Amino acid sequence: MSERLEDIAIAMVAKGKGILAADESSGTIKKRFDSINLTSTEDARRDYREMLFRADDAMKNYISGVILYDETLRQSARDGTRLADLIKAAGSIPGIKVDAGAKNLAGFNGETITEGLDGLRERLNEYYELGARFAKWRGVVAISDTLPTWGAVRQNAQALARYAALCQEAGIVPIVEPEILMDGVPGDHSIERCYEVTDLVLKTVFNELYDARVKLEGMILKPNMVIDGKNARKASVEQVAELTVRVLKANVPSSVPGIAFLSGGQSDVEATAHLSAMNAGYDMPWNLTFSYGRALQAAAIKAWGGKDENVPAAQAAFTHRARMNGLAATGAWTEAQEKNA
Ligand code: 13P
Repeated sequence: MSERLEDIAIAMVAKGKGILAADESSGTIKKRFDSINLTSTEDARRDYREMLFRADDAMKNYISGVILYDETLRQSARDGTRLADLIKAAGSIPGIKVDAGAKNLAGFNGETITEGLDGLRERLNEYYELGARFAKWRGVVAISDTLPTWGAVRQNAQALARYAALCQEAGIVPIVEPEILMDGVPGDHSIERCYEVTDLVLKTVFNELYDARVKLEGMILKPNMVIDGKNARKASVEQVAELTVRVLKANVPSSVPGIAFLSGGQSDVEATAHLSAMNAGYDMPWNLTFSYGRALQAAAIKAWGGKDENVPAAQAAFTHRARMNGLAATGAWTEAQEKNA
């Protein structure tokens, strides 16, 4: 693997491949395990992730990189192989979530700021030694009748830019993730309102990235799609694709090598259909792919249920979603392929 930031970034968005977001924090993975009545122990978390990373067909053909949580980057498989080495052996790149989560922003009622900048330089150097070649930081923006405020948008953009500059100094490609939530309060905003907020957030983020001297060739953007609120969903696949491509073209310089979407609570098939519609219908200067958490893992976790004997079924479920999204990353997915699986 080449170590230039540009080359790592290009490999992360290689045609027909995308990123597996397996970086659920301890709290989030507990919620996922609760849904299958499984206690979240260190071994259970290891077993689950080992199951995913050993799904060879999925990993080798469709997964360019995997975002890990701190614990996972330090963990070893049952046979003693480091999990990061399993990922590398499959030709995929290990990455690391480095933010410390979204916390209440002082003075801003109902808005958050993502923390984790203190000591980040040292942590990044250690993560590099442990094999991580890219990182992720998620800023969170919620939509309501009165939110977001300019102050919260700008402070989150500044934190993203400072994080990105520190990553590049450490030889690590930053995934810059400003997520506008689908499920704000009350979560019934229109797709036009989502466009307006996404436009403001992306403009602000790229301004801050310039000011922080971040090299755009050595980063990946991880945005939300432009979509209506979770409790008001009525936009068509074509509308989501059109408005998402429009907001990206209005804001993302062509020197950014790739854009990898979050799924953000969309159903598995919706997330795939939207990505495929964009790639099939539009000429774009960047590779457009997925960096899905829930939309890649929901079926697999259900099939697994915490039981060894279900590992093959869970790997098959994960491989299916990875393949569908791999097709979507080239615009070649159809509903028929979904059914024929
Ligand atoms: P979802 O695809 O489940 O939104 O997760 C992606 C992610 O990494 C959010 O930070």
